[in-house]
Amino acid sequence: MSNVVVIGTQWGDEGKGKIVDLLTEEAGLIVRFQGGNNAGHTLVVGEETFILHLIPSGILHAEKICLIGNGVVVDPEVFCRELDGLSNRGIDVRPERLVVSPKTHLIMPYHRLLDKLREEKRTGEKIGTTGRGIGPCYEDKVSRIGIRAGDFLQPDLLRRKISMALVEKNALLKHHYGVEELSVDAVLQMVAEPGQRLSAYLGDVSEHLALADKQGKSVLFEGAQGTHLDIDHGTYPFVTSSNTVAGNASAGAGCSPRLLGTIMGIVKAYTTRVGSGPFPTELTDSTGDYLQQKGGEFGATTGRKRRCGWLDLALLRESIRLNGVQEIVLTKLDVLSGLDRIALCTGYVLADRTLRHPPQGEGQLGQVRPVYENVNGWSEDISGARCWDDLPHAAREYVLRIEKELHTPVSIISVGSNRTQTIDRRRIAK
Ligand code: GDP
Ligand code: IMO
Ligand code: MG
Repeated sequence: MSNVVVIGTQWGDEGKGKIVDLLTEEAGLIVRFQGGNNAGHTLVVGEETFILHLIPSGILHAEKICLIGNGVVVDPEVFCRELDGLSNRGIDVRPERLVVSPKTHLIMPYHRLLDKLREEKRTGEKIGTTGRGIGPCYEDKVSRIGIRAGDFLQPDLLRRKISMALVEKNALLKHHYGVEELSVDAVLQMVAEPGQRLSAYLGDVSEHLALADKQGKSVLFEGAQGTHLDIDHGTYPFVTSSNTVAGNASAGAGCSPRLLGTIMGIVKAYTTRVGSGPFPTELTDSTGDYLQQKGGEFGATTGRKRRCGWLDLALLRESIRLNGVQEIVLTKLDVLSGLDRIALCTGYVLADRTLRHPPQGEGQLGQVRPVYENVNGWSEDISGARCWDDLPHAAREYVLRIEKELHTPVSIISVGSNRTQTIDRRRIAK
């Protein structure tokens, strides 16, 4: 397999984890390049389910190397909890096969606190963040007062940096939010143990990637969140705090953009969103409930119900363009079984103008009216389909229509959460 970048094309939870786990078989190294434990990637193998927040979704394959790149934000406590959870289930998580860049910024206790306080106090519509401290951590990175994983190897530097960061944090905590200040000692005590454990995993991620290139081993870049949650290109301000698009894979992993290879966009066969923000094809009726229940659409990180709606081709056109998606992986097609009629959003109307792409102005996506075209549904359960010919005619038509509208081939179709519930059109004749 060539190198592959896996990214979400919608608002996250497209099934990236399942697909990364699946493709890991053909890869040598798997690297996360952005986001943090706001992500929740679900892997189902046989009877077992794993939800990963931080550790790359390649970890279940014993002989593969998993890397956490500099663009990720790491909560040391969550990292350790995830290590223990996996190790208790017999997964090898030794530093020999799991490497964290010393340049990753760390989510500190005050980041989690500020994330929650800010959401509580926010006037107007809340963002609906995951409350994991992601935004405040990325803010400190850009403000150049962030704490990095490698700082644990230099205790004096670590103390100095925390002390410096706390000057502003304490002013905010005390005067703006009216809560107790934090002392340097208290913060150091909270992070000491997980920080020490994390130190054992530090290594030069960039060098691992360069070596893989030299040795001809393929690299799988695992995106988190989705294109429309991207800090620049998403539905600002209802976005996450990192660039989720494929272009960030090189900066966030620490390698040349020449190494990125094939860009695979994961597309859920309908649309979901957790948290606030515009969602033109949202269904607040019984069909929305049907998708939510049949698709088991609960956030893998926060347990919140996901909002559900029809597939939005305008949104996807933008994702294909922004990421340069070369292959689509269509997931959760099985969830659409049992609907007589399926609607496809082919574009929008905004103030009498017809649009094929989302409007660029802030908030305008909340003002569009979706234009729908109905297509035939199918009643058959397709979760046992393993090749193209196993799919009912209407399901095949749905896939072909998506390919045609987006000018991009659908190379893999997923019909269930299990690793095996997959139709791989890269190998099987169409
Ligand atoms: P991610 O964040 O993109 O990795 O996606 P999540 O794991 O948060 O959410 C996807 C959910 O759908 C998980 O519960 C998966 O187990 C499940 N899933 C993935 N692919 C399929 C599929 O093709 N069909 C069904 N029914 N469930 C799927
Ligand atoms: P995966 O990788 C779905 C959403 C949150 C909120 C917004 C900002 O599993 O697809 P943040 O905590 O990042 O500051 O929250 O982004 N969000 C996700 N939604 N899937 C995710 O990750 C998400 N990560 C963040 O719900 O609306
Ligand atoms: Mg998820």
